[in-house]
Amino acid sequence: MRRKVTVVGAGNVGATAAMRVAEKELADVVLIDVLEGVPAGKALDLAEAAPIEKHDSKLIGATNDYSHAEGSDIVIITAGVPRKPGMSRDDLLETNMGIMENVTREVASVAPESILIVVSNPLDAMCHVAFEVSGFPKNRVMGMAGVLDSARFRTFIAMELNVSVENTHAFVLGGHGDTMVPLPRYSTVAGIPITELLPPDRIEALVERTRNGGAEIVSLLKTGSAYYAPASAAVEMAEAILKDKKKILPCAAYLEGEYGIQGLFIGVPVKLGAQGIEEIIEIKLTEEERAALQHSADAVKGLVDDMKRLRGN
Ligand code: NAI
Ligand code: 2OP
Repeated sequence: MRRKVTVVGAGNVGATAAMRVAEKELADVVLIDVLEGVPAGKALDLAEAAPIEKHDSKLIGATNDYSHAEGSDIVIITAGVPRKPGMSRDDLLETNMGIMENVTREVASVAPESILIVVSNPLDAMCHVAFEVSGFPKNRVMGMAGVLDSARFRTFIAMELNVSVENTHAFVLGGHGDTMVPLPRYSTVAGIPITELLPPDRIEALVERTRNGGAEIVSLLKTGSAYYAPASAAVEMAEAILKDKKKILPCAAYLEGEYGIQGLFIGVPVKLGAQGIEEIIEIKLTEEERAALQHSADAVKGLVDDMKRLRGN
């Protein structure tokens, strides 16, 4: 049977993710947006590239019509507004919270067995909205951030050491914000920790560039935020699930005591397979790393509390 991935939000991240899913022939793709004509236009344009790109994925675009999403295996939610220069991800909270509530309600009614990959910012807070509104079990709601942040860290490590990106591995945990926690000890080149390959001041510079990776792109683009790498990251997660790969990736997951964190979505290593998040992997952290993760969790908790205030409860 053909698999189905619905992408909600046919903007920069959503359309690019749709393209990557189709071109990798992972599934048929449904693209949904509030804009009149845009999802249908982008889906048709992508379908017309199929003979050249040599894939047989079917693409459909729909404006506000969620019936096409029925039976989706995965729903990637990118609906919302991106940030502009000078804005933080947290500035998007109120607008994107309302959008996430509406989208999740629609998705949950037509695709109750789907797995949700949330992309919209502020990421960790939006995962909470999707989790609460969908009522899905925690293994079927997750957020994309760690894969992107780790890919950025890997890119900067490869640039610094002039090695193939394929030789690099990196872990970035915590919330997708200024408090994210890149872990140099667990970041390697061909299995060698970067702490053996680079002096502390260079590692700190790469860590700082990773933390500011999103803002660096916003300041260059000026009209929006990054989308090529974010789309690749969301699709890597979707692929791991669709192919039941049991792949360990850093994702925003709902924690119930793991890492000493209770009732919050936060970026941690997880095993992704057909059931979604099949395991939360607890790696050993130093006191300093644990404190940084807790600091990041506190920032996410602040946003969750802000959302409660906005809803008046
Ligand atoms: P964009 O503006 O290009 O696309 C967003 C799309 O969502 C627009 O087409 C808009 O019409 C649509 N939309 C708005 N309300 C909607 C609704 N109620 N239902 C369906 N569609 C709706 O923005 P872009 O660059 O694609 O970013 C999307 C979101 O993803 C932003 O919130 C951005 O901050 C976030 N993001 C998160 C990343 C992460 O690492 N988690 C990385 C990159 C972006
Ligand atoms: C990023 O990190 C904006 O969250 C988005 O590029």
